[in-house]
Amino acid sequence: MSITIIGAGLAGLSAAHTLAQNGIACTLVSAQASERAQSVMAEGGINACLDTMGENDSIDNHIEDTLRGGVGLADRRSVRGLCESAPAIVREFHALGVPFPTNENGIVQRHFGGQKKKRTAFVKSSTGKMLMTALIDAVRRFEAEGLVRRYPHHMLQQLHIRENRCQGATVFDTYTGESLTLGGSVILASGGMNGLFWGLTTGTTQNTADVTAMCLESGVELANLEFIQYHPTTIAIPGKRLLISEAARGEGGRLFVRKNGKPWYFMEEKYPELKNLMPRDVVSAEMVEVTAMPECEAQVYLDMTGIDKTAWKSRLSDLREQVLHYLALDPVKTPVPVSPGIHYFMGGIWVDAQHRTSAENLYAAGECACRYHGANRLGGNSLLGAVYGGKIAAMTALKEADLKNLPAAPKGAQPYSEVSPAFRAAVSRILGDRLKILRCENDLRQALTELASLESKAANPAETRLLSLAKATISCALFRKESRGAHRRTDYPATDSACRKQTVVQRTNVFFREIDEL
Ligand code: FUM
Repeated sequence: MSITIIGAGLAGLSAAHTLAQNGIACTLVSAQASERAQSVMAEGGINACLDTMGENDSIDNHIEDTLRGGVGLADRRSVRGLCESAPAIVREFHALGVPFPTNENGIVQRHFGGQKKKRTAFVKSSTGKMLMTALIDAVRRFEAEGLVRRYPHHMLQQLHIRENRCQGATVFDTYTGESLTLGGSVILASGGMNGLFWGLTTGTTQNTADVTAMCLESGVELANLEFIQYHPTTIAIPGKRLLISEAARGEGGRLFVRKNGKPWYFMEEKYPELKNLMPRDVVSAEMVEVTAMPECEAQVYLDMTGIDKTAWKSRLSDLREQVLHYLALDPVKTPVPVSPGIHYFMGGIWVDAQHRTSAENLYAAGECACRYHGANRLGGNSLLGAVYGGKIAAMTALKEADLKNLPAAPKGAQPYSEVSPAFRAAVSRILGDRLKILRCENDLRQALTELASLESKAANPAETRLLSLAKATISCALFRKESRGAHRRTDYPATDSACRKQTVVQRTNVFFREIDEL
């Protein structure tokens, strides 16, 4: 038996590692080497209740913070599994050599958004890179044993789904132009839908959303596409948005806007308990609101000048280097102009608690999947979700793969096609303009009209698929006639308990699914 994994970032590697530990061979297919995956860019940390900071933290606190952050749309059972597994996951990475700083109680943790306790384990602001380095190394051992076979520089060409059963995948070698068909079960770990918002996200442009678009085309259910996280502190740089990690606020950074010429620390005044560390949906929406006030300037600043020297040196040195490099500003001395930017997709390929998609033999994990974060993800829960989700998807896939009756590799595949940069830019412009932090019916309908005008320009199946995914995303945002978490409708500003449901889209059909049925 061999299982195919599409994506070699943290979720894909975690799945490969789990399969290999259980003696199951897998093929790890990825557009780039793992060293260049999105997960490497994750900065701030990974959440786990280790209770090393003398704050009497508990796993239940982690669960409640995660559910509150998700504003009623995350499934309690799944979140419990995630949070209960977190301490062992972080300790496993420590044992693999991740240099988390320690104190007399164990791994040091810091404050992160939406959490009342210091619960985020970190390595400066390069946590993702450190976790990836450790896991790449751990997986390499299994590569040497022949249990993990890698295909870097390969794109998914076709998912073979017949009668709602996945039979395998055809992948395309971008170096040789040859195709390879792999039969059997598939785990998708292809990352978030940055390719719908080209140049507008903090994430890598390698995460094209093409795999998610193929799922939509094949009738696999997607969910909660309207929930797109805008991270409050980003900076526009050529080709993307630069993230100023939430860790900066965790270490004492403060947001202000000039009101009548004087700095106004609006988050501290409006939210005295969590202040600058309210969940990201709240902070970003507040930034939009205060900068629209006539007595305020249009720019919010992140004031990190009060952070002490030790924190800069031991915890934020790489963040300082980035700001110096891109803005020629020293954040130790000068407040930094910031604005919200797209950072994470809470929605994606629908999976159940065992990471099964709606198609048999097809599983998904990591940011491409929709499971743990509801209407808004907490910082530090994505690395955790990727590792945990990869493990669960792998365990389910290996249990369900029928040794004697694995689907054979299908014959033939659609020709490989890809989205041209111009077409992607056109789609992204429409979505970027119309799916902002605040949206309304008029804007969303306008987006559908603009997307329809691109139909005749779609030159190949990949472009048609991307367009369908863009339309599905807008349709989900239209369908949810309320404001909740990262989905804020100016025409429906209230949260409606009748909408405490997951938005599901299958092909062009959008409907609500009860949370209890998840
Ligand atoms: O701000 C950050 O460091 C982001 C972390 C995350 O999204 O988990």
